Amino acid sequence: MTATDDLLRGRLALVTGAAGGIGRAICRSLVASGCRVVLADRDAAALAGLSAELGDAAHALVLDVDDAAAVDGCLDALPEDLRAIDLLVNNAGHDIGGRVRFDLGSPDDWSAIIQTNLIGLMRVTRAILPGMIARERGDVVNVSSISAIRMVPDQAPYSASKAGIHMFTDILRGELAETPLRVIEVLPGLTRTGIVATRLRGDEEAAERYFERFGMALEPEDVARCVHFAVSQPAHVQLAQMFVLPTNRW
Ligand code: NAI
Repeated sequence: MTATDDLLRGRLALVTGAAGGIGRAICRSLVASGCRVVLADRDAAALAGLSAELGDAAHALVLDVDDAAAVDGCLDALPEDLRAIDLLVNNAGHDIGGRVRFDLGSPDDWSAIIQTNLIGLMRVTRAILPGMIARERGDVVNVSSISAIRMVPDQAPYSASKAGIHMFTDILRGELAETPLRVIEVLPGLTRTGIVATRLRGDEEAAERYFERFGMALEPEDVARCVHFAVSQPAHVQLAQMFVLPTNRW
């Protein structure tokens, strides 16, 4: 534990997409700092593995953020002592079927991308935020992407979803300015996770070639360190946006 962990110890986090690359790293880092963490993901098997690794500090919640009723009732699905979430990390996301020129892509694919990445994130926030406001305590961390602010051809649905998160996060921060709540956006560049293989519907070899093409990528732990840094600031410091790139990008 470090001095900054004093600011985190005892906090209760809920992390969506907890079982994926970046989510797992964030959960590990929060638990190592003395937080209790609700691990939320739609991948029950991966969730069980992470939950077993993290032990008593973690509680697995199988949650598909696309499932409106499940999201609306997610606090009721938790034991009573795990409902006063004071750190929400909205991290669940995907790009399944993405990286194709817009007119050649499938409307079902792009609608699913926007549904999870943007609408799901907004719904989870809607479920957790009223409690934070009532308790006058909490941080909301939204994981968007470099794609929220940089144009990348063949990535319209994913980028639109992330640009939506970017503006939603800004507006939420403005709306909550008179409260002690903090609203933080993390915008990572390319990070070595399963997101590319998932985008390619499981083609691990093509995913490896994709990462090789860029030469350098962030590791999930790099993004987790940024989240840790942001949420361990003193209460009057709101790290509004953290834009983090591999060193060979611009
Ligand atoms: P990942 O594929 O390793 O993990 C994503 C996790 O989200 C998976 O565990 C998956 O089961 C979960 N998930 C997906 N849809 C869900 C849903 N509807 N409900 C609940 N859980 C769901 O990918 P990664 O990279 O860890 O992604 C985490 C976040 O980081 C995503 O929002 C992604 O867009 C963002 N990001 C990733 C970058 C990268 O290069 N890997 C760069 C910038 C942002």
